[in-house]
Amino acid sequence: MLKDEIAKRADVINEAIAKYLPELEPEGLYRAARHLIKAGGKRLRPVISLLVAEALGKDYRKILPAAVSVETIHNFTLVHDDIMDRDEMRRGVPTVHRVYGEATAILAGDTLFAEAFKLLTRCDVEKRDIVRAVERLSEVCIKICEGQYMDMSFEGRDKVSEEEYMQMIKLKTGVLIAAAASIPAILFGESEEVVNSLWDYGILSGMAFQIHDDLLDLTEETGKDWGSDLLKGKKTLIVIKAFERGVELKTFGKERAEEEEIREDIDKLKECGAVDYAMTKSRELADIAKEKLNVLPDNDAKNLLVELTEYLVTRRK
Ligand code: IPE
Ligand code: IPE
Ligand code: MG
Ligand code: MG
Ligand code: MG
Repeated sequence: MLKDEIAKRADVINEAIAKYLPELEPEGLYRAARHLIKAGGKRLRPVISLLVAEALGKDYRKILPAAVSVETIHNFTLVHDDIMDRDEMRRGVPTVHRVYGEATAILAGDTLFAEAFKLLTRCDVEKRDIVRAVERLSEVCIKICEGQYMDMSFEGRDKVSEEEYMQMIKLKTGVLIAAAASIPAILFGESEEVVNSLWDYGILSGMAFQIHDDLLDLTEETGKDWGSDLLKGKKTLIVIKAFERGVELKTFGKERAEEEEIREDIDKLKECGAVDYAMTKSRELADIAKEKLNVLPDNDAKNLLVELTEYLVTRRK
């Protein structure tokens, strides 16, 4: 079963995290830096990295530090994202800045960011390929900043187009999943064709994942703040569509609202078809993503990657 296969690999990642990300001095800094990564999370990005290695017929242990590196970058972005989004809960626990204060949370994120690059150099592969992977991960981090900037700047704008939203999620979310999928292939010296297809796979599945995540923000108990995107005035695809259809939302950008008012707005988003529109878009992207996996040889790991892509857009948290 997919769940068991993910769990098995997530266990490998969790063990590697304990080994590669020790708690050093000063204690206060490292407690903050490990707070979120120790709280759990789905570990989907590093699991994708391990599955790609397996599908390529390679020993994933050689690139285990790279898989942890991608998860470490992910955690760095979340710590800083929660400051930017003023969110209070993640992975069912209070956010790092809430527990340790903003200044320490910024430093905790910076620490994770640097640790990730150091880790990447510890893979047991050709030095030349490590340099290429470091270059790729650096480019990815720059793109995440571009995406996060766009995300925030959209909050203050009246109108954002669907195209602009798609570009923003490609940068803030797509590129890191693309890194998770393509960096193992880079490290094993695979052809450009394989690396590029895996990159495209990550971009498309990452965009599908983010649209689904925006839907979950409205509907599910995810361990994160519920309805947060509405209150922050986030221009999600759902809201962009609803505005196009003339819907007016009471709680949008309000920062504070009664639960009842949020529910009313969510009903409007459903009734006008915006929720269905986003669900369809997410599904379409996931289907094209799956096709990009055809560059891999047929085997169990590849089949698991296809199944995992389905999970990305059907998950409930
Ligand atoms: C959350 O990612 C950030 C987004 C890109 C939406 P995940 O949903 O993978 O978060 P964790 O790692 O499982 O907590
Ligand atoms: C996720 O953006 C992307 C990054 C963290 C870079 P969101 O702000 O939508 O993610 P959540 O909902 O807080 O996890
Ligand atoms: Mg954000
Ligand atoms: Mg956020
Ligand atoms: Mg979100």
